Amino acid sequence: MTVAPVYKQGWTMDDVHWSLFDPSKIEPSLLATVKAAALVEYNAPDYVAYLKRVFAGAPAQTIAAIEQWGREEAQHGRALGRWAEMADPSFNLQEAFARFRKGYTPEHFKEAELVSVRGSRRGEMIARCVVESGTSSYYSAIRDASEEPVLQEIAARIAADEYRHYKLFYDIQKAQPEPELGLWKRFSIALGRVRESDDDELAYSYYCANVPPEKEAVMPYDRKKFSKLASKASMAAYRRQHIEKLVQMVVKAVGANPRGWVASMFGALLWRRLSAKSA
Ligand SMILES: [Fe+2]
Ligand SMILES: [Fe+2]
Repeated sequence: MTVAPVYKQGWTMDDVHWSLFDPSKIEPSLLATVKAAALVEYNAPDYVAYLKRVFAGAPAQTIAAIEQWGREEAQHGRALGRWAEMADPSFNLQEAFARFRKGYTPEHFKEAELVSVRGSRRGEMIARCVVESGTSSYYSAIRDASEEPVLQEIAARIAADEYRHYKLFYDIQKAQPEPELGLWKRFSIALGRVRESDDDELAYSYYCANVPPEKEAVMPYDRKKFSKLASKASMAAYRRQHIEKLVQMVVKAVGANPRGWVASMFGALLWRRLSAKSA
């Protein structure tokens, strides 16, 4: 039995064993989903700017942690993008990213407001924990599904980072000198963030990453269609244990009883959404 390496925080592009790349082990649906993920990750600086507005006046340590988090997310984008460029030389991270940015900017990234769209810093951190739960389970699923050694390594490194991000935002949430939100409020913020995965971010990143510019005219963007294709490509990697871990993390972020009704409802809901969207 081989023991999986432990990947610590602070790795760089030079730490990845690129020379082990094996083009015979590339799986097309994993390649398609990885290309899309690269664009979303690479878009982190916008999110950093937004979070810094939400946390204006917070302790310097919190701001520094947000900046470090953003650097790690952008590096995820670079690493996934480089792998995708090796796997498919017609893919170009910078080009695809430029198209994605041109067509996708969530409203709350445009506004100069100093409040969180979730209503409070605690609420913002619960939403972040939901996202990090999602990415942590997603990259674990990619790691376990991939037979290509470099993708396995990158996904394992990223999954470990995402889990640390989850813990970081969980701790920031708990440290806020704001009153604790009620269970129903926490639950509805988490549910709201899960629902937002229906917006253009995933569908449009999948489109820009997988439909080359010269094919745009014959294959125009259609949110519903590309949302389905994006889910299908990512769901191909998921196994039951990845979903179970995802539910556990979301339930913990909400602060609900892991064996209570909130937990079973989230479990059923996520499983149904993920499998229905990819059907
Ligand atoms: Fe990431
Ligand atoms: Fe993350």
